[in-house]
Amino acid sequence: MDQATTLRKIVNLNKFEEGPQPKLSGRMRVIAITSGKGGVGKTNIVLNLCMALSSRNRRVLLLDADMGLANVDVLLGLTPKYTLEHVMNRQKDVRDIMLTGPAGFRILPSGSGISELSEMTYEQQMHLFQELSKIDDDLDYLFIDTGAGISSNVLRFNASANEILIIANPEPTSITDAYALMKLLAIKYHIRDFGLIANSVTSRADGQGVYDTLERVCSQFLKVNLNFLGWIPFDANFRRTVRQQKPLLELYPDSPAAKSISRIADLLDSHSVTQLPPQAAAGAEIGPEKASSFWDRLLHWKKM
Ligand SMILES: Nc1ncnc2c1ncn2[C@@H]1O[C@H](COP(=O)(O)OP(=O)(O)O)[C@@H](O)[C@H]1O
Ligand SMILES: [Mg+2]
Repeated sequence: MDQATTLRKIVNLNKFEEGPQPKLSGRMRVIAITSGKGGVGKTNIVLNLCMALSSRNRRVLLLDADMGLANVDVLLGLTPKYTLEHVMNRQKDVRDIMLTGPAGFRILPSGSGISELSEMTYEQQMHLFQELSKIDDDLDYLFIDTGAGISSNVLRFNASANEILIIANPEPTSITDAYALMKLLAIKYHIRDFGLIANSVTSRADGQGVYDTLERVCSQFLKVNLNFLGWIPFDANFRRTVRQQKPLLELYPDSPAAKSISRIADLLDSHSVTQLPPQAAAGAEIGPEKASSFWDRLLHWKKM
């Protein structure tokens, strides 16, 4: 979505009375992964984070809440028989639709291309939360891959999480859309803290630049805190993992991007997104030979 479309949507959203949403409570940490703009790496990052935490013996569940373009199952080569659609229609219990992913983390698939479900009603979402709260005793983490955009569905999933992790890359539209999303969440749902992962960067400084730009506008105009969790380099191996339907951490564990994700997982495991110590941001050092050029990235983005 371009900035003009985003801004038009914001202007049209003139009801800002929603306030705090019911939170998914319990012992588990509920972390929403979100972005504003699509195609910035949310699904790839979240499933690798889930794998990393699961390898550390954490009990992890990934909720694929991208109803329109579900792809957690596709990226992992899984073919779900039942999906969230069956849960929302009250045909199945959440436990009946759970799949097991690499390193043993569990997945609630939404299935692909159920476009009529891209807008879940408030009641359906509450029903899903009720179902999820039944299993929270077994879990350390619930990650929610929210899908892109600023639909009320995406906003409500974010507002119901305890921690919100924004993914942005150095592309200007990714930055403006991330800002637009945080603005809505701050105004509509009074969210005050966000975490940021800068993805597809060419260097640590490139990632820091994404953070600095967003942090400046967040503190100046929104009065919200943005915490820098880390950076992930642009890595052509990601495209290969999509074809082989296995996570980067499994196929290329020594790549700088996989190392970055592992370090971010460690940081996440020791700190809440909202309470990161200053200078805590994690990621692998990116040597000049590993860094991809601006042109590589541009060609990659054009293909998306
Ligand atoms: N760090 C990265 N380097 C190179 N390609 C990446 C990186 N992160 C994601 N991608 C690629 O970008 C595309 C979109 O990623 P995806 O995780 O589906 O984004 P989203 O869930 O935000 O829509 C995929 O083709 C993926 O392989
Ligand atoms: Mg996705």
